[in-house]
Amino acid sequence: MRVGVLTGGGDCPGLNAVIRAIVRKGVKEYGYDFVGFRDGWKGPLEGLTIDLDIKATRGILPRGGTILGSSRTNPFKVEDGVERIKENLAKMKIDALIVIGGEDTLGVATKLDQLGVKVVGVPKTIDNDLNNTDYTFGFDTAVNIAMEAIDRLHTTAESHHRALIVEVMGRHAGWIALHSGLAGGAACILIPEIPFDLEKVCSYVESRFESSYAPIIVVAEGALPKDGDLITKDGSKDAFGHVKLSGIGEWLAEQIEKKTGKEARTSVLGHIQRGGTPTAFDRVLATRFGLHAITAAHEGDWGIMVALSGTDITRVPLASATAQLKVVDPALYSEAEIFFG
Ligand code: F6P
Repeated sequence: MRVGVLTGGGDCPGLNAVIRAIVRKGVKEYGYDFVGFRDGWKGPLEGLTIDLDIKATRGILPRGGTILGSSRTNPFKVEDGVERIKENLAKMKIDALIVIGGEDTLGVATKLDQLGVKVVGVPKTIDNDLNNTDYTFGFDTAVNIAMEAIDRLHTTAESHHRALIVEVMGRHAGWIALHSGLAGGAACILIPEIPFDLEKVCSYVESRFESSYAPIIVVAEGALPKDGDLITKDGSKDAFGHVKLSGIGEWLAEQIEKKTGKEARTSVLGHIQRGGTPTAFDRVLATRFGLHAITAAHEGDWGIMVALSGTDITRVPLASATAQLKVVDPALYSEAEIFFG
């Protein structure tokens, strides 16, 4: 069999570990050939390829990013996009695709599966918001980066008696904020799923100062106040129609200063959360996902996504995995609330 592999959407640590595992097992156990598609769905759409064999995947396990490149190209927004993909796959004699992506990239894979393209999905996103999998790879690395930032901010916040706000990624789901805030001892965590009360946030800030401690507030980029709107970067959107976020941290700092009289500053972690080497957890998870994805392809189990359930790697229908996002349960959030203030 000849298998195409692509990585789409925002990159994340562990992508190369998945690619390496797919190729290593595919060549050694099944004798398959591989074609790497460049830059997400742009690759099969425009016929952009890269050699993908054991040699090309040597030494990439600890490397961040993706050797294949990524993009947010949406073939369903391009004229004859699906036809062009089908034609290119046929021209290159590619039997099946392994697609490594988040909600958008796998959303395209879901539709292509329904249109007869043989696909297997692998869940990738630092946001951890893909349905039907306990974790996605990349999330653990992002949380550790954010936690380390919070640890560092604690000491400087103490020295200057300031409130420090950390804005982390998380458009619709507050997983990074919740886990890094809990691990880093935040005075308050704000997530998109639960609109926040600004007065309450200010009271947490004040109570932390009262106990002679400086507050750190962790806010997800998609969090919003109860009586306000989502704060966006400049109103521009990506190919999947998502408006670009960032700005809630700055807004919060202004409001906190105004309402409490305490100095407040913001650090936006941005792409630092997505870059660099994966943690051991992400390397192992990504490797296991890769091994199971090529086995699913070998067994002809199309239209599925490999997933983590407890400690087992399972298979779930792509259609179910991309039907809705996995967001933070309010009960889980309330476990963290006990530490606020
Ligand atoms: O989906 C991953 C993610 O990192 C989101 O958390 C974030 O909103 C988005 O990508 C940012 O996208 P980009 O950096 O590609 O504009």
